[in-house]
Amino acid sequence: MPVLQRHGRYDVRGGPATFPGLPAVDRRLFVPEDVWVVEDGEWRVLSRSADPAAWEEQVAADAAVTTHLKDGTWPTSSSSAPSVMARMIAALRLEPGMKVLEIGTGTGWNAACLAALGAEVVSIEVDEAIADRARTNLRNAGHESVRVFFGDGEHGAPDAAPFDRVISTAAAQRIPYAWVEQCAEGGIIVTPYTGVGHVDALLVLTRTGNAARGRVEGNASFMPLRGQGVSPMERRAIESHDDLRITVTRTGQSISYGN
Ligand SMILES: C[S@@+](CC[C@H](N)C(=O)[O-])C[C@H]1O[C@@H](n2cnc3c(N)ncnc32)[C@H](O)[C@@H]1O
Repeated sequence: MPVLQRHGRYDVRGGPATFPGLPAVDRRLFVPEDVWVVEDGEWRVLSRSADPAAWEEQVAADAAVTTHLKDGTWPTSSSSAPSVMARMIAALRLEPGMKVLEIGTGTGWNAACLAALGAEVVSIEVDEAIADRARTNLRNAGHESVRVFFGDGEHGAPDAAPFDRVISTAAAQRIPYAWVEQCAEGGIIVTPYTGVGHVDALLVLTRTGNAARGRVEGNASFMPLRGQGVSPMERRAIESHDDLRITVTRTGQSISYGN
């Protein structure tokens, strides 16, 4: 116990890597053998077989674990930080039996957590190899009921709609109207947002009629939806407002400020 308190994390030596606020789904069943860590300012691979203790430490920490890099520089997939996942899942106000669309399957761990809470989960991943791997992880963890589609999550999953809830685990700059359209009346959309008015917001929107309206509920720093990235220079120019409000309609999104 002292170890847990000192490091503020769960001790995986004695049991599975599970976290406060999340259902007991072992993260180790989803994080791949090879992960990426920064050492002396450089990315390097950390293999579970080569250094099991260091790998376990990464997976047990309340931090994102990078699983894929592009050009040896840009993280393109990761297992999100558990406490951020817990906040996002809480913001969904899930009830058992609800149908949930997740954008950004990644390792499949968040999808498994949603399923463990009784949701019927459809998840979309833009990288085919990552989607395949997530299906295997989900099957091995006993969550074969989760449907994983390979495709661009900006289009949602029209054939499986409507959804009671939509959760994106990649940051949007322009919230796709498909998410609004495929969310049931009164349903909730939770997404990280990087764009006009905020660099790293967690947005929570509710669908009413033909629009979704929402506001910031804390911070969430995520890699962008593929095709929606903001350059470092653009990012530096963004001023963050925690009182940002957003309305998404078929013709686009509008921003306002104030409570
Ligand atoms: C932070 S990771 C997701 C973490 C994941 N939910 C988990 O539990 O491991 C973001 C994922 O979103 C995927 N992604 C990015 N853009 C996407 C898009 N347009 N449609 C679907 N997936 C996308 C990336 O390939 C990446 O796997």
